[in-house]
Amino acid sequence: MAVSESGSPESTAGSAQALLLAADGIEKSFGRGWWPGRPRTPVLRGAELVLRPGEVVGLAGENGSGKSTLMKILVGDLRADAGSVRRPRRLGYCPQQPVVYDRLTCDEHFELFGRAYRMSPEVAHRSRGHLYAALGFERYAGTRADRLSGGTLAKLNLGLALLADPEVLLLDEPYAGFDWDTYLRFWEIVAQRRQAGRSVLIISHFVADEQRFDRIVDLREGRTVPR
Ligand SMILES: Nc1ncnc2c1ncn2[C@@H]1O[C@H](COP(=O)(O)OP(=O)(O)OP(=O)(O)O)[C@@H](O)[C@H]1O
Ligand SMILES: [Mg+2]
Repeated sequence: MAVSESGSPESTAGSAQALLLAADGIEKSFGRGWWPGRPRTPVLRGAELVLRPGEVVGLAGENGSGKSTLMKILVGDLRADAGSVRRPRRLGYCPQQPVVYDRLTCDEHFELFGRAYRMSPEVAHRSRGHLYAALGFERYAGTRADRLSGGTLAKLNLGLALLADPEVLLLDEPYAGFDWDTYLRFWEIVAQRRQAGRSVLIISHFVADEQRFDRIVDLREGRTVPR
């Protein structure tokens, strides 16, 4: 039942290639109701996943199959019932529901997150500029989050995950609200990250462009199955 966590997957002894993230034997069930001895529904039954440098991996599965649950466990937002997760020092996470502060502008979000990531103001400012340009939403820099359209909010959500140039980027349904142009820009960013040796995990309930991924893993009945 123990869940072990450590911050240094690269140190995995004997692995032929460095692993940026490694999850093994992940189990999770949710209780139905609040009373003692309530029935529990298993969602994950031994899921596993590794991410290597320069890999773009897709995690697919039908609605309710447990993709977001696994993602939350990978980032440390949710505790697994069993299994182990080893993750890198710097990990970017784009949750399915953007977590933003309604009254803060895009610029203010970037400032806040830059400080949280302990970036210098200059580096954070430069990174923010690149992200506005790459995703095309600079004109909303001074707009409050509660006044952004759904697609622009998704850009902010993605931008915040990318700000500190994380070794691993975990994205939960990142392009659901994107228009076609933004979708293509998104894949350019992903391609640049692959080239830079970063790795990206993209969750989607359907995979439209299979050729854009290095490999795809299906989540079926709580287990991960390579496609
Ligand atoms: N906090 C919770 N308490 C109880 N049940 C939960 C909780 N979170 C998720 N579940 C259940 O776990 C199952 C998997 O949910 P999850 O959100 O991980 O699915 P998903 O694959 O991300 O689905 P989607 O494609 O709709 O985003 C669902 O049956 C859901 O109702
Ligand atoms: Mg989900």
